[in-house]
Formats: sequence, structure tokens, C-alpha cells
Amino acid sequence: MIERIWAVMVALSSLPLASLGAQQASAGQPHLIVNADQGTTTISRDIYGQFSEHLGHDIYGGYWIKDGHGGWRYNEAAIDALKKLEVPFVRWPGGCFADYYHWQDGIGPRGERPTMVNTVWGGVTEDNSFGTDEYLELMRRLGASPFIVGNVGSGTVKEMSDWWEYVNHPGGSPMSDLRAKNGHPDAYNVRLWGVGNESWGCGGNMTPEYYADEFKRYATFLRAYGRTQPYLIASGPNVDDYNWTDVMMRDAGQMMRALDFHYYTVVGTWQHKGSATSFTEGEWFTALQKAIHIRELIERHSTIMDRYDPDKRVALFVGEWGMWHDVEPGTNPGFLYQQNTMRDALVASASLDIFNNHADRVRMASIAQTINVLQSMLLTHGDTIVETPTYWVFQMYTVHHDATLLPISLDAGRYTYGDQSIPAVSASASRDSLGVTHITMSNLDPNQAHTVTTDIRGEPVSSVSGRILTAATMQAHNTFDNPHAVEPKSFDGARLSGRTLTVQLPPKSIVVLTLK
Ligand code: AHR
Repeated sequence: MIERIWAVMVALSSLPLASLGAQQASAGQPHLIVNADQGTTTISRDIYGQFSEHLGHDIYGGYWIKDGHGGWRYNEAAIDALKKLEVPFVRWPGGCFADYYHWQDGIGPRGERPTMVNTVWGGVTEDNSFGTDEYLELMRRLGASPFIVGNVGSGTVKEMSDWWEYVNHPGGSPMSDLRAKNGHPDAYNVRLWGVGNESWGCGGNMTPEYYADEFKRYATFLRAYGRTQPYLIASGPNVDDYNWTDVMMRDAGQMMRALDFHYYTVVGTWQHKGSATSFTEGEWFTALQKAIHIRELIERHSTIMDRYDPDKRVALFVGEWGMWHDVEPGTNPGFLYQQNTMRDALVASASLDIFNNHADRVRMASIAQTINVLQSMLLTHGDTIVETPTYWVFQMYTVHHDATLLPISLDAGRYTYGDQSIPAVSASASRDSLGVTHITMSNLDPNQAHTVTTDIRGEPVSSVSGRILTAATMQAHNTFDNPHAVEPKSFDGARLSGRTLTVQLPPKSIVVLTLK
């Protein structure tokens, strides 16, 4: 199907205008075909996953805040906001932190837990008050599935298999007895399990051959308990490390269910990434150009996976993605606290469209990270929260969760900057369980409106409604003083005539359309 989208796109872009049919507007104008009766692939809601690490104020100061009496409590405002995103899972406790974390330090009476120094992120001392039972209670409150990443880099097979037993054994084993002693007699049934993180780097600097053997050794001792079968996720490639994917699929593909691939959008260099809020159009362009490069990475990793796994049993999991900027001035460089503008929102929408359109292999993803870290959903001061533009993209895209992907052909037009150009429009479409079609469309061009002529094929439509996220400037963002600067509004720029939908996308905008 991927090949099909591209074949049609290439064909469309090389056809004379006259052959594109009466609906086609004019040269360079975007044109979308939605095959509304042809979906076969489900867009897994797990594409809309979250990643929350013991890093800066994601956990401590994010989800878990001081209660004013020397203890801690859950941040109900943050939890309420995240519930509106219908978060499918939260990957925890890292990230790099996962390969430093010893889970037994974070269970039992809080006052008796040892402290630890978070040497990976900021060098701060943590009191271990947020551990396994607190995380699993958070998942219950969010209605999200747990996803634990075990420690391979500095841990042992026994430590990981004990953790698995603690959360999953139904009762009558040493670890389930310990869980019961800590007030949790029932098994948590944690299915999603990462075996290390970035084992090519902060998780142990391993070669793929060495890690493949380690993965199999650890995986052997994570046994099904009761009704909980492990869904094992192996550390995957960094960016374009195709050799990692090849070796892992060859040597360990049979024992994994997903391969955890990481790709961040960095505008400058890793040393000087650039400001989140103060940037030029050139930096806007570069961000989007680099973000949509993930399409090529996904297709090339998927091609390798197809060789070993033509039935697509193993998912490509985009486990860490999003924009990585310089930290906000005056904040701890180890806390990765950054603001979030319309640019981040467009990076999110274009990336999510790419994931949707590759949903046959990309069945999981988790943006980095949920609260106060990197491209977050929320910024918090205690229980005062700010929803970022990226939050609103995730909220608008809930329509695609577990819906059937509709094949599209998109002639995206071009957004030109200097002597370079990228597609101006991004889109994906799905049909939900009630038979309602949704299309998400983004205009990556910050200057020009684009009119997208859309043919809806195969199903009748009689009405269209929509919502839009846009702002006057590329740098627009929400702050504690002005938390509603960037929020979705109702959209009246779509007109239906028969099966042709004409959508006027303002510059730098994201639209979700509902067709009935
Ligand atoms: O998300 C921040 C860090 O980026 C994660 O801890 C690590 O896995 C990646 O390198």
C-alpha cells in the first residue's frame, strides 16, 4: 500500500494537468484522493503513545507533585488533561534512565526507600517515592496501558525477571508475595515490556550482534504468567542505522514483537540546536524538512524488516520522536525543558500522518516526552497546567485511534524556501467504527494558503465539519500568562459539492475534518 501511495503520487505529479480531471484546480495546487471504501489496515491507537522518563520535571514536578505536607501526590490537573488525549500507553521509566534504574529501590514504604542520584539527567537526588506501584496506579488513573522498560545496561537477568514477576505473577511466588505485602495483591498484567533502551548508546554501547544475544537471554526469562503473555520490545535502530535493524531481525526477530526505533528532529547541531521560540523561516523549513525525513527512514527500516518478516508480525515502534531544541534560558540543561510552538505542532501532525499512512508496520509510537520535557503535551507549575500546541494536535488526532486507514493519493503541492522545497500539504484519512470518515490535513507553508481539492471515492458523503489549529505567527505558543493563544477552533473552510471537497488551508495550519 505504501508503494501504491507513492506510485500514484509520482504518477500524478508527472501527468499533464488536463489528465487530472475536472476537479483538479490549477498547476501546483494540492490534490487529494481518498479511497473511502478501500481500507484494510487499522491505525493502532498505540501510535499515539507517550513516553515519560525520570528526567527533569516529567515525573517529579509533573505527574507527581509535592502535597504541601512533606509528601507527594498525583497531579490531578495533568491527569485530567491527559485523559482527554485517550493516551494508549506510557513508556516508563526511560529512556537512558531505564538502564540505570533498580526497581527494588522504588517499592515498599516510601519513607524507607533509598535515595538515588539521577546521574543521567541533571544530577539531582530522587527519593524514589515514585516507583513501580505509583506508576501502575498512574496508568490506572489515566486509563492507559503500562509499558515498562527493564534495565539491561547495568542490571541483571534476575533483576528484570523479578520485576516481571512482581507485576505479573498471579500470587504465591516470592515477588507476588512482596507485591501483596506492599498493598497490591492483584497482578497488574503488564504486557508491554522493553528489554533495554538505546543499547547502541546510553544503554550499554553494544554492537547489534552482542545486544541480539543479550536480548534473547533476557527474553528467555520473561515467562507468561496467568493470562499475561509478554509483548517484548527490543532496542531498535538509531536514525538510519540499517545494519542494526538487519542484525536484530536476523538474529532475534523470532523472539520480539516490536523494534524500538528512535529519531529526533534537531534543527541545528546537537551542540547548538536552536531556540524553541525564537527562530527564522529557514529554521521552520529545516525543522519540517528533517521531520518528514522520517518517512524515508520508516520505509527503509520496514523494507529490511519485510525481508525477515513478510507477515509483519514484528512492529516498527517509533519509540522516541519529536523536536529537540535548546533548553529554555535559565533552566537546568539536564532537564530538557523547552517551549512548544506552531512549528512543533506541524512537526507533530506531519509525523503522525506519516505514521498513520505506514500503519501496517508502524503499530506503536511514543513522542518524547509527556510533561515539561522535550516536545511535551503539558507544561506545569504545580497543578497549574498549560496545554501545548502539540497537545492539541494529539487531541485532534484522537479520531484516528483504532480507525481503519483509508488509502490516499496526495499531490501535495510544494512549499519553497530559497532553492529548496518540501511538500506543502500533509494528510491522512481513516474511517471509524461508526462509519465516519476523518481526514487530517496540514499546511506546512507558513506564508501561502493552499486549496486542497479532494475527491472522496467509493462512499457517499453529505456533510463536512471541522476544527483548525493555527496562529498568526510561526512562533505562537501558550504560556502560563497566556495559556489559550494556540487552541483549536471550529473550521469553516471546507465546501462539499457532490463527492468533491474543497478545503482552504490557511498558512501554517492543521485541520481535522469529519465527513458523514
Ligand atoms: O528523551 C531523552 C533521551 O533521548 C532518552 O532518555 C534517550 O533514550 C534518548 O537518547
